Amino acid sequence: MIIDVVTLFPSMFAGVLGESILKRAQEQGQARISLVNLRDFSREKHKKVDAPPYGGGPGMVILAEPVFEAVEHLRRSGRADSTLVLLTPGGVRLTQALAGELARRPGLILLCGHYEGFDERVSLGLSPLEVSIGDYVLTGGEIPAMALLDTVVRLIPGVLGSAESLLQESFSGGQLEYPQYTRPPEFRGMAVPDVLLSGDHERIARWRREQARERTRARRPDLEGGARPDEMRSQ
Ligand code: 6GU
Repeated sequence: MIIDVVTLFPSMFAGVLGESILKRAQEQGQARISLVNLRDFSREKHKKVDAPPYGGGPGMVILAEPVFEAVEHLRRSGRADSTLVLLTPGGVRLTQALAGELARRPGLILLCGHYEGFDERVSLGLSPLEVSIGDYVLTGGEIPAMALLDTVVRLIPGVLGSAESLLQESFSGGQLEYPQYTRPPEFRGMAVPDVLLSGDHERIARWRREQARERTRARRPDLEGGARPDEMRSQ
């Protein structure tokens, strides 16, 4: 997948792109991620890309022109088929299902806003898919773009190893994870549940299903009814 990130702060991405699965996916050629500095597409002296809002009010608004110029440049550079995504708190919520859909696209262009957002003509003229990562306000679209990148790239076929994708499969059915333990069997008075040390794989699987169900009911009742694939098979 070809992913272009249009941002005023490209250096914010170095850490996230340079470690772990995002790094490996790029090294293995499954994701080609480019950072595009919006300022490079300013046609103004001093490379300005923002201005005060018409009608008054706080903050600055990102000009439509450099955004159109950047997107049109990318579209001419082999990105004609890329899906345009604008990160904004007013967008549709990013979910595992949406990430799964985006992972099947040939390319993505991510537009990161800052300040008071983009001139509305970016939305009107470029019709991006507008995406939010949740009901809270961040300073800009960069951190949301990193969250989207991470969750989408790990769903590209072949990016996760088989052990990792197995884990992925068990938890993609809309329930929270069951609790995990590793050594030692007792730590500061807290014992690992006996069942996990029993070697009885059927009992362990049942215990984990119950824990996941109970945790989901207690912490995320809004997710209830989401059945896991392994539960659906056993019913
Ligand atoms: Cl995509 N942008 C900003 N600035 N804040 C957010 C967001 C996006 N999603 C949740 N909060």
